[in-house]
Amino acid sequence: MNRTPDEEQWDARYGSSRPVWSGSPNPLLMETAQERIPGVALDIGAGEGADAIWLAERGWTVHAVDLSSVALASAASHAEAAGVEERIKWMHRDVEAWSPQSGAYDLVSVHFLHLPSERREKVFRGLGEAVAPGGTLLIVGHHPSDLNAGVKRPSGEGLLFTPESVAELFDSSDWETLACEARPRTPKSSDGRETTVHDSLFYARRRHR
Ligand SMILES: C[S@@+](CC[C@H](N)C(=O)[O-])C[C@H]1O[C@@H](n2cnc3c(N)ncnc32)[C@H](O)[C@@H]1O
Repeated sequence: MNRTPDEEQWDARYGSSRPVWSGSPNPLLMETAQERIPGVALDIGAGEGADAIWLAERGWTVHAVDLSSVALASAASHAEAAGVEERIKWMHRDVEAWSPQSGAYDLVSVHFLHLPSERREKVFRGLGEAVAPGGTLLIVGHHPSDLNAGVKRPSGEGLLFTPESVAELFDSSDWETLACEARPRTPKSSDGRETTVHDSLFYARRRHR
């Protein structure tokens, strides 16, 4: 099957230098999931697998989806080294062209998936459908204010999003919002400078009907 331009771009990025990301799980995943009883999780845009591996190490069964087969191959080797490969199913999917099973997941986690706004809204709504009643949806991305923070960010029109714009996609009669905020973080840049950036955090529980 032909690769889309997005897939080619991500494969090239993961293929040119490794690792691309830190190898550490995302802090907001650890913060929100550490108190949860493990179940079945869906990790969208799993990249090199740090979040999926962290969840698997805590007893979760994980379906880890990414557009890049290069990223997934690297993620699978990290999972094997961590001894959790049997808990993770790596799924090479374009989340814009695939729908997860409805109501199947105790946790759906999406970190730093930056799509143009209309496409993003459709994907996020669909991912909400995949959450089981009583399960949670965690969406984290770069806040638009980062564009003025002197850090490297996806700069295309509308790629970054506020937590409020995510919350608007989910009806409060179906969802209990647990967090909707811009979370500050102070990463060190390669030249040692500290800059405050913000992550958009939307975390919600699907209500039982
Ligand atoms: C910025 S990275 C974040 C990786 C990981 N979630 C993390 O926080 O380290 C975005 C990831 O989303 C994946 N991705 C981009 N578009 C996608 C799509 N349409 N379907 C599935 N994965 C996609 C990319 O291949 C990449 O691994």
